[in-house]
Amino acid sequence: MCGIVGYVGGQSALDVVLAGLKRLEYRGYDSAGVAVLADGGLAAAKKAGKLANLDKELAARPLPAGSTGIGHTRWATHGGPTDANAHPHLDNAGRVSVVHNGIIENFAALRAELTDRGHELASETDTEVVAHLLAESFSSCGDLAESMRQVCRRLEGAFTLVAVHADAPDVVVGARRNSPLVVGLGDDEAFLASDVAAFIAHTREAVELGQDQVVEVRRNGVQVTDFEGRPAEVRPYHVDWDASAAEKGGYDYFMLKEIAEQPKAVADTLLGRIGTDGRLSLDEVRIPDAVLREAQKVVIVACGTAFHAGLIAKYAIEHWTRIPCEVELASEFRYRDPILDHRTLVIAISQSGETMDTLMALRHAREQGAKVLAICNTNGSTIPRESDAVLYTHAGPEVAVASTKAFLTQLVACYLVALYLGQVRGTKWGDEIQAVVKELAEIGTQVEEVLGTMEPVRELARGLAGKNTVLFLGRHVGHPVALEGALKLKELAYMHAEGFAAGELKHGPIALIEEDLPVVVIVPSPRGRSVLHDKIVSNIQEIRARGARTIVIAEEGDETVVPYADHLVRIPVTPTLLQPLVATVPLQVFACELATARGNEVDQPRNLAKSVTVE
Ligand code: F6R
Repeated sequence: MCGIVGYVGGQSALDVVLAGLKRLEYRGYDSAGVAVLADGGLAAAKKAGKLANLDKELAARPLPAGSTGIGHTRWATHGGPTDANAHPHLDNAGRVSVVHNGIIENFAALRAELTDRGHELASETDTEVVAHLLAESFSSCGDLAESMRQVCRRLEGAFTLVAVHADAPDVVVGARRNSPLVVGLGDDEAFLASDVAAFIAHTREAVELGQDQVVEVRRNGVQVTDFEGRPAEVRPYHVDWDASAAEKGGYDYFMLKEIAEQPKAVADTLLGRIGTDGRLSLDEVRIPDAVLREAQKVVIVACGTAFHAGLIAKYAIEHWTRIPCEVELASEFRYRDPILDHRTLVIAISQSGETMDTLMALRHAREQGAKVLAICNTNGSTIPRESDAVLYTHAGPEVAVASTKAFLTQLVACYLVALYLGQVRGTKWGDEIQAVVKELAEIGTQVEEVLGTMEPVRELARGLAGKNTVLFLGRHVGHPVALEGALKLKELAYMHAEGFAAGELKHGPIALIEEDLPVVVIVPSPRGRSVLHDKIVSNIQEIRARGARTIVIAEEGDETVVPYADHLVRIPVTPTLLQPLVATVPLQVFACELATARGNEVDQPRNLAKSVTVE
């Protein structure tokens, strides 16, 4: 939440910072602002609303040119999305400017203290206190990095801060606790940002900042210390995705591009992990096989879409390994005093690797002695860094706020972990597993096939733009798919959408069915578990008899559903446990098209941010 950029170098700081903010707008779009050091002073501009509003403001009132600057795109926490609450925040003399991501929990006490000392605070934010504290500290020590350390020692909560001072013209200083911050090292220039996407067009050489570190960034290098001023090791790394990965590449929305990229994302996530003999090699999972063999319970923690991936993983893990598996919303996990010990394997699933709820859940799990395996899409982010091991998904950068390709790759990673656990423990490592591994290796092609048949789904979505409610039903792994379909529709189309286990219908939800209510039903394969299939076909008849408009997602060749489907969406034949990989795709396309038809912002739905770095 909130995107931060800092720059010092030979280019126009304003241009670099604005271009960086554009890449980070997915992190929040309640307001945007910039500050540059120029002509011995500091000039700032900020505006409520999207970056486009700031662009207009800058066109009307240009800032002087400078080569050191910072910028921010905000997801509001303390104080509404107004011009006054937009970042950067300045001290009363207008010499220091700061941007922030996170929540400063003790800001009220600090604010009272500053007011007593005669400071006038102009916003309702928690951030503004930092600008005033930095100004005080700088006036006594004259060193911005040291001032930042002094201030950070006084702050409680989660914060990434980036600041400039008019009396330190070629320096940008950053600090990090919990929320992300990376440094980009260019040729005679340097960058600070919440995400490498902000500077990937300039450099792919980056430095990770650790927890509770302060960085002083100059054109020719960086110095990193802890909050006490002790030098810290600088860990450079090379960013291996190219700049075009963060561009729309001809698509109207990032979401459309990311949906289309799914076959590749799935294939990349499988790459090198399935041997020619069908055995899995997950060398990067540093948890020793002995620990995996001894594990008595698996607990999955995640939020939102990643939680739905976890729900699907439970079916796979329990079926293939016979280890009990619980799935829990990360935001609930630590508050109910869960039972964990060294024989519990906790799997934390997160696209961004920054979600605060998931981070807190995994910290709690490790404190209880559990081993934590992260499934994550963002290299070097906090969740994998704090886990015992990580299995990276290789979806590439996901920019649209609604998760699509990351979800499919999370599923792939979960299947790999389940199959690997089965392999290590020798449980049920028989024909079924061998067949599934083979099918998994081919699944990208099936996702591609589904993508090629989506025009009728788009047409259907456009026809439903005037509806208020859509329901989703599924059984077995189709249930989490239904939940995911409903979540996509809520966040993108702002419609009332709910997912139910089809078996629960008669226990209440069936009362919602009325004439022409669209109900999407995910039908399991008629092969294998045909009882499950037959039961859902009965459910379709029950809702249709009560007037529902049925939108049925069913496997090729399943003719039993035809008489009861007002709209039929075909998906390729896949093993039941893998079906979510193909069944979710039409639901993504459906939600995206409905949002477009309703005139909504597809990539940046209202009130949301891509990475949720506050609890
Ligand atoms: C929905 C969506 C969110 C995220 C959730 C967890 O489309 O994107 O529900 O899945 O906020 O985010 P990560 O995976 O980054 O932990």
